[in-house]
Amino acid sequence: MIDFQSARLIPRPALRRARRVAARAAVAIRARPGFDFDTGLLVFWQALLRNPRGVGAAVPSSRRLARAIAAAVPLDGDDLVVEIGAGSGVVTSALLARGVAPERLVVFERDRELARHLQRRHPTVRVIAGDACHLRRILGADQPIGTIVSGVPLRSLPREQALNLLRECAAALPPAGRLVQFTYAWDMPRLFAEAGFAHESRQFVAMNLPPAFVDCWKRPD
Ligand SMILES: C[S@@+](CC[C@H](N)C(=O)[O-])C[C@H]1O[C@@H](n2cnc3c(N)ncnc32)[C@H](O)[C@@H]1O
Repeated sequence: MIDFQSARLIPRPALRRARRVAARAAVAIRARPGFDFDTGLLVFWQALLRNPRGVGAAVPSSRRLARAIAAAVPLDGDDLVVEIGAGSGVVTSALLARGVAPERLVVFERDRELARHLQRRHPTVRVIAGDACHLRRILGADQPIGTIVSGVPLRSLPREQALNLLRECAAALPPAGRLVQFTYAWDMPRLFAEAGFAHESRQFVAMNLPPAFVDCWKRPD
């Protein structure tokens, strides 16, 4: 597993050079007519170079992992499904393919370029280019949230930041509301209990780089 906390050890000039090369490659690839490259991957890598700890993964989730995450989302009711840290949109696609109605889905992505890409890829979904730490303030109280699906790399963020985000999720969910989070870690992070979540279930998905777990957490009644 790649430890993105050590991304700070990459010398800044090398990181700057990599960002310049990626930006030039993006322009060159987009300029080639008929070249069918997955631009989502390119935008993802550019975001990774801008903020290694905030993105926290070398590649987006596999389709297998995305499907397992989407399968944990209940389809009944018309409460909102809020996806936070959507990246290039693989999980968003899986949620829509599972049958979550686009008008029930709200997607938060902090990186502006990724958010722009998400809105292009899923024009019927409400995409918010913003920090999920403020999701209640941004969404207001009009539409209740039933489930939160998180791709935010809690392990690579500073502890306080990760805890704040989990507390915000707990406050936004109703009693018995569910938070679905994927992780590469084998142990069960204590952070969730600190934020008021109880563990419901865990599923292992081997077909991902690296293999991952899908955890369901519940806000106690
Ligand atoms: C590991 S990527 C996951 C992308 C996608 N869900 C997937 O499975 O491929 C994490 C994403 O979370 C976003 N992110 C990190 N912190 C965030 C926050 N506080 N609010 C919204 N998005 C955030 C990053 O910009 C990045 O795109």
